[in-house]
Amino acid sequence: MSMHTSLKQQAIDILRMNDRGGYTVPTARLYPYQWEWDSVFAALGFATFDRNRAWEEIETLFSGQWEDGMVPHIIFHKTDPDYFPGPEMWKSNTVPPSSGHSQPPVAASAMLTMMKTGGPEDRKRAEKLFEKLVAWHRWFHKYRDPDETGVVGIIHPWESGRDNCPDWDIGMEQITVPDDLGDLPRRDITHVDPSERPTAEQYNRYLAIVKFGHECKWDHLEIARNGPFFMVDPCVQFALMRGDRDLAELADEFGLPGIRDEAESWLKRAKEGCGSFWSEDVGGFVAKDLRSGTLSTAFTNASAMALYADAGDAAQQARLVREVTAILDCCTYGFPSWDPRDSQFESRRYWRGPIWSVVNYMIGTGLAEKGHGALAERLRGDTRRAVETSGFYEYFDPLTGEGLGGKLFTWTAAIHLAWAMGDDLLQAEGE
Ligand code: GLC
Repeated sequence: MSMHTSLKQQAIDILRMNDRGGYTVPTARLYPYQWEWDSVFAALGFATFDRNRAWEEIETLFSGQWEDGMVPHIIFHKTDPDYFPGPEMWKSNTVPPSSGHSQPPVAASAMLTMMKTGGPEDRKRAEKLFEKLVAWHRWFHKYRDPDETGVVGIIHPWESGRDNCPDWDIGMEQITVPDDLGDLPRRDITHVDPSERPTAEQYNRYLAIVKFGHECKWDHLEIARNGPFFMVDPCVQFALMRGDRDLAELADEFGLPGIRDEAESWLKRAKEGCGSFWSEDVGGFVAKDLRSGTLSTAFTNASAMALYADAGDAAQQARLVREVTAILDCCTYGFPSWDPRDSQFESRRYWRGPIWSVVNYMIGTGLAEKGHGALAERLRGDTRRAVETSGFYEYFDPLTGEGLGGKLFTWTAAIHLAWAMGDDLLQAEGE
């Protein structure tokens, strides 16, 4: 791309370039399929210049919804032998084939944002998808919180979207790798520096969970009760709480009070449930292993999403904002995926330190809404500067702003357009 092309134009070009017809890939080669939350954020980016294409992205995503309501984390529209683990490992038995678990449910919030900043056509497209959206939220509550505790679990680190965070080490250590897993044709490390990717031992454990899943035919109650891994992820929990709130608002708009009440009762239970993964030591909400009860040990970018979900009481919120401020003061670019004051921080290894635009967007939105405008602006500025420094990388080093992982990345471009640039039509919403 020419150096003279503006960053805004480059971002638009990246979305167009990663378009595979109705859906975008996160980036060419490394991630050749449709990923759930990547696609939803891509829609926010498209919404700044092509509303029809934005809705199409979400419609294609829901075309992969399972009968039980789940929207899978990866949809394999066209087989690409260059990606592992592909459809033959997941054995989803669905059309189109997909992975067997979900990812942070961010669609309700994006759909509400698009509707509020759009016109009658946006409203029509949102209304048409609404039933599917409700089914997905019901799926989360039924299968990821079967005991109605108000807190959902994730069955695989990949369901969090924060795949390699030290948070998951607690649950991963308890996984026994079956002997018959065989040799794994890793593809990711042929595309990206191995030092920025998970180790072989970790990868075997990831696939042990996949094996358990397809062996029970993706019976999600069985997996929640007896699967190898079940942990609370603040990112999924807070995205779902925010999503339930936005779902309630959409239901109200569409004149469906029964669904609004249902969503509000989920939210009420969730707000009470949040106490169970608050860490007084950390000063924030942290991941928790639901099998052993163990809490994680450091503040992450997921912890910083609490205000986006309005989780916690006034004292907890004040305390976590102090941590957010202290952590930002240790970084040149916020918000790091692991606390830089902790010994496990690695500024370049994925989800163990680097920053992600999409998480920044949610953190920043929450901070702005709860009266922390200066912190929100700082984070928006950091997100923009990282791109100005390095380009549209998958993620960035919080100390240097160096771009890491995949290049020409869809969600980094989308968030630049929808939020980080700061002068777009989507920005008015959420302020
Ligand atoms: C990585 C990220 C995940 C993302 C996917 C595609 O697996 O951890 O959050 O959805 O890449 O970009």
